[in-house]
Amino acid sequence: LPPTRTHMNAVEFFARHLHKRSHNSHKGSFGDLAVLGGAHGMSGAPILAARAALHSGAGRVFVAFAEDAPAYDSAQPELMCRLAADFDLDSATLVVGPGLGTARLSQELLARALASGRALLADADALNMLAADAELLQQLARRGAPTVLTPHPLEAARLLGVTAAEVQADRIGAARRLAERCRAVVVLKGSGTVIAQPDGAVVINGTGNPALATAGTGDVLSGLCGSLLAQGWPAWEAALAAVWLHGMAADVLVTEGSGPIGLAAGELIPAIRVALN
Ligand code: APR
Ligand code: MG
Repeated sequence: LPPTRTHMNAVEFFARHLHKRSHNSHKGSFGDLAVLGGAHGMSGAPILAARAALHSGAGRVFVAFAEDAPAYDSAQPELMCRLAADFDLDSATLVVGPGLGTARLSQELLARALASGRALLADADALNMLAADAELLQQLARRGAPTVLTPHPLEAARLLGVTAAEVQADRIGAARRLAERCRAVVVLKGSGTVIAQPDGAVVINGTGNPALATAGTGDVLSGLCGSLLAQGWPAWEAALAAVWLHGMAADVLVTEGSGPIGLAAGELIPAIRVALN
């Protein structure tokens, strides 16, 4: 791996938190993850998140589609595709939001997901629905299980009731306020992603580059972080590890000449796997 500002810290961090797989482990040892998303016309986002989760080590990965569930993902038949209405949201760690839409059906699915006792990551349209519904936001803040939010600046702005420019003018303050209000770990994305805890602890990530400025990279991050949660990582460590690995994968790909121009989000997935191993 090329050196970065946080490289030495990262070596210690992963030595402490990334455990060698025991010889007699099985798929049940690495958790079940379900990505809840995919309203009509938006199936790509949850599939990208689910593929990222699979290749970062979750034992079993489901995609629970709000609508139009395909029988399977022909390019990734290891994923189990379901209709969200038929899926037991208490049976897996949840990533909720990629391509979820904001219609009535999606609001109901989000409320069901928030009520689950499992670790949960909320991204994209889940964040947009939370910003528009004080009751859902209260439900989020009352959750007992580990919770991670991964807003980009505009999603954070909607949640805080300010403009994206105001969020960008004080990214650390915005991430802290959001973490405190939502009682969740917050990943405020963008160049220099800020990871914040409800108690005010903050880390600025040093990996990543403009190759990530392309559609779908956020979905890959949510799947990766959800996968670590499913494998038993605590929310704070899962968020730090996922953001670092996601950026490092992009840095390695740029070093190899696959970016910054023209990198596609899905190409991050094998690079994340290499970085993890
Ligand atoms: N440097 C470092 N990292 C960057 C940079 C940069 N210049 N630009 C982007 N990134 C990273 C961000 O930190 C984040 O991890 O790329 C990722 C982009 O995530 P999103 O903004 O969520 O983008 P995207 O994946 O396209 O979102 C998918 O969800 O948020 C909704 O409506 C949105 O349709 C979109 C969908
Ligand atoms: Mg996004």
